[in-house]
Amino acid sequence: MSLDGYLDGATVKRLPLSNDADLDRVDAVRASCDAIMVGAATVRNDNPRLLIRAADRRRERMARGLPPSPVKVTVTAGGDLDPDADFFTTGEADKLVYCASSAVPAVRSRLAGVATVLDGGERLDMRAVSEDLSARGVNRLMVEGGGSLHTQFLTEDLADELQVVVAPFFVGDSRASRFVGDGSFPWHPGRRAPLAEVRRIGDVVLLRYALSARFCGG
Ligand SMILES: NC(=O)c1ccc[n+]([C@@H]2O[C@H](COP(=O)([O-])OP(=O)(O)OC[C@H]3O[C@@H](n4cnc5c(N)ncnc54)[C@H](OP(=O)(O)O)[C@@H]3O)[C@@H](O)[C@H]2O)c1
Repeated sequence: MSLDGYLDGATVKRLPLSNDADLDRVDAVRASCDAIMVGAATVRNDNPRLLIRAADRRRERMARGLPPSPVKVTVTAGGDLDPDADFFTTGEADKLVYCASSAVPAVRSRLAGVATVLDGGERLDMRAVSEDLSARGVNRLMVEGGGSLHTQFLTEDLADELQVVVAPFFVGDSRASRFVGDGSFPWHPGRRAPLAEVRRIGDVVLLRYALSARFCGG
């Protein structure tokens, strides 16, 4: 996020916040996960590939019997997802779309052959989605935004670890997306989140918070 807590700029153009060294660190974190989740707005706005970039990390995963890159997961209520988006067309691992019941038939037809569309009920709940992912073998899930997903995972106390990287500039435009939206967070002035690590990475800083007993410090 920016110094003023934004995840992007106010225009449709993608705003780079991290530097190369941090993107490589993110690549390593991705490689350690079974699945990566982003919200449907991030699929639409950023068109992310969500693949492991480093060849040695892909090889190391394959040596462990895993696909080269983690499973990709998104959630949608309206189902406005383009089957030609890089999320769907790149990588060998499964692409899972949790969708509100009413949109399932249309989304299954739109994404036929590129994703598995799962009925998440009329109102998707991130705890239920997480439990379903766990039943599918996803033990370590990386939630990469946007703000809507951050807010749900944090307010529902589902995250074991929070990693925030602060970029050295301001966005200064409230039309941009915030790191989180309004909500009742379990971490507040009366219950401060345990800070596990502060790491300088060139001109950005990584903050890691241990949010549950399942936090693994390494
Ligand atoms: N700086 C970073 O590291 C970073 C990372 C990721 C994203 N971003 C930025 O964040 C922005 C997007 O953030 P955002 O908060 O607007 O959106 P988001 O979290 O990416 O996606 C929100 C969308 O996800 C779906 N969704 C979320 N919760 C749901 C639920 N409980 N049930 C059903 N569907 C649900 C809905 O999709 P439908 O609209 O399809 O119903 C909703 O509109 C982008 O501009 C992107 O650039 C930045």
